[in-house]
Parts: sequence; C-alpha cells; structure tokens
Amino acid sequence: MIIKRIPKEETWELRHTVLWPDKDLSFVQMREDDNGLHFGLYEDQELVSVLSLFVNGHDAQFRKFATLPSEQGKGYGSLLLHHVLLEAASLGATRIWCNARATKSGFYERFGLQKTTKEPFEKNGLLFFVMEIQLI
Ligand SMILES: CC(C)(COP(=O)(O)OP(=O)(O)OC[C@H]1O[C@@H](n2cnc3c(N)ncnc32)[C@H](O)[C@@H]1OP(=O)(O)O)[C@@H](O)C(=O)NCCC(=O)NCCS
Repeated sequence: MIIKRIPKEETWELRHTVLWPDKDLSFVQMREDDNGLHFGLYEDQELVSVLSLFVNGHDAQFRKFATLPSEQGKGYGSLLLHHVLLEAASLGATRIWCNARATKSGFYERFGLQKTTKEPFEKNGLLFFVMEIQLI
C-alpha cells in the first residue's frame, strides 16, 4: 500500500464513480482543483482511495473523499485521512475542516473532528455538516 500525491486528473474517475455517479464527469472537476493537493492510496498499483487538500494559510479543508466501493470498510480511507491530516499540519495548517455528508459524521468524529455551530445544509439532495478539528 502506498499513499502519494497525484495530479488532479487522476482523482476524477474515482470521485465520479463513488460520489456522483449520476452526474456528468465535469461535476467532479472543480475549478479549485488547480489550487489543491491531491492524494491517492494505491494497493497493488490500483488507485483505491482519493482525497484532496486545500490549504489557505493556517486553515485547511479536505474535499472529495472517495474509496472504491469494493474496497470500502477495509481501513484505506482511515489511512488516507490520517496521512492528509498530518500533511496539513506539516504545511502550517492549525485547523482543518470539511463539509461532511451527514452519513459520514460518525466516521469523522472518530478522527476527532467536531460539528461546528454552522447550520447543517442541504446540497444536491444530501445533508451536510461542517466539521473541524484543531491540529495544534
Ligand atoms: C468515506 C469513505 C471515503 C471512507 O473510506 P473507507 O476506505 O471506506 O474508510 P475506512 O475503511 O477506513 O472506514 C470506513 C468504515 O469501515 C470501518 N472499518 C475500517 N477498517 C475496518 C476493518 N478492518 N474491519 C471492519 N470495519 C472497518 C471504519 O470504522 C468505518 O466505519 P464507519 O463508516 O461506520 O465510520 C468511503 O466510505 C466512501 O468513499 N464513501 C462514499 C463517499 C463518501 O461518503 N465520501 C465522504 C463524503 S463526506
């Protein structure tokens, strides 16, 4: 298993398949991707999980977290998220946050992220919580 930085283009297929299969591919191609750091976890040379990091000074956000459906629940996402939290801290971020699908808030809580006081919101038919953790 290895985790490495990958070009934005390599995240798109997994994002599409896992997160928004009913939309066009362009839906998961974000303008902001140019400013992101993109991470991929590979097992036997297959890209299994992706996560993108956006650092803005002391603040960082992670977005578009997706593990291949057949490989979910095996710990890959946890390894990748852990790696990215450390990477964000090493790049100077003191806080990291995400818009978490409500169904995944328990997963993030196990990493110490907490729901902020921001109102949960609905987007594209899904409910999201804003979640964060102080890194330092
Ligand atoms: C969220 C996501 C990226 C996590 O990736 P993953 O590779 O499945 O992550 P893990 O395997 O580390 O953890 C997933 C679950 O399996 C559990 N798990 C991890 N290793 C395990 C193991 N060896 N045995 C049993 N369960 C295990 C974790 O506790 C976690 O449980 P939870 O979902 O109840 O919190 C993945 O589930 C996914 O792509 N989901 C669909 C898209 C999505 O919702 N993305 C996040 C948007 S905010």
